[in-house]
Order: sequence, then C-alpha cells, then structure tokens
Amino acid sequence: MSYAARDDRPTDKAARYQEVAEEIASVLDGEPNRTARMATVASMLHDAMPGYFWTGFYVVDGPDELVVGPYQGTLGCLRIKFGRGVCGAAAATRQVQIVEDVNAFPGHIACDSRSNSEIVLPVTDAEGELIAVFDVDSTEFGRFDQVDAEWLGRILQRTFAV
Ligand code: SME
Repeated sequence: MSYAARDDRPTDKAARYQEVAEEIASVLDGEPNRTARMATVASMLHDAMPGYFWTGFYVVDGPDELVVGPYQGTLGCLRIKFGRGVCGAAAATRQVQIVEDVNAFPGHIACDSRSNSEIVLPVTDAEGELIAVFDVDSTEFGRFDQVDAEWLGRILQRTFAV
C-alpha cells in the first residue's frame, strides 16, 4: 500500500492519528537509525494532519542546547537554548507545551511569523533520557489540544523509547 498523500483519511482527529500511528510503525519496522525515524515521523504526520505548518525535531546537542533536526516546512531556527521559547521550555521542564497563541508566550522564538499556535513534546529514549523535542506549529490559533498531546506522545514513545 502507498502512504503518499491521501484524501480518504478519517475526519475525526483521534481516528486519523490512530491510522497514521499504525502507518508510521509499519514503515519503521526494523529500522534502527534515529535520523531515519525522526524524518519519517515528521514527514508522515506533516502530510496526514491538517493544519500542520512546521513539523519537526530539535535534537539535544550538549548539556543545555537544542539543534534543528529532521523537519518539514519553512526554514527553522538552527539552535535553541534550554529555557528559551516554547521548544526550550519543553526541553527544560520535560513537559508538553500547548500554546494557543504564540504571540502571548514570553520569549517565543518567531522563526516564521505565520505560526500562531504550537505544541512541543519532550522526546525520550528507552532509558528515559531526553533526546529531542518534537515541535508542530500551525498558522491557526488554538490548533492543538489534549487529543494532539495524547496521540503525539504515544507515537513518540512508540518510535523512540524502544
Ligand atoms: N516556535 C519555536 C521555535 C522553533 S520554530 O518555530 C520552528 C519556539 O518558540 O520554541
């Protein structure tokens, strides 16, 4: 079967995540390379989920810094210190960040001024070590909620904590 852009996906958000989660697991079965896994997650989610404008990873590089990893979308900032912006907050606190209006988030880093809301999740390996954060930005305000947090968390856990 082909995983290219499809127009027959479920309209229900949770059902759509469930379908894509299975497709990601199937494509990555037997592939241990972390870059390949990150690139595949970013590509498949970006393609399948409506309202995803920038989708990708910032990888931990040194004790307190993130560097951009595989992503889909317009040019992203290259490096973000822990504690800076939404990605830096997720890395520093290891907590999911859901921001309904990025313009109201103190210290938000505007890589592309068209982004209005975002979700950032910490990504941990099998030992529970922080390896990256996963960032999705949308041009819509309030695009992300607990359903996104739950499903993205599940996909990231299944893909990287193995
Ligand atoms: N919005 C992020 C920066 C990364 S990009 O938007 C691609 C932040 O404030 O952490």
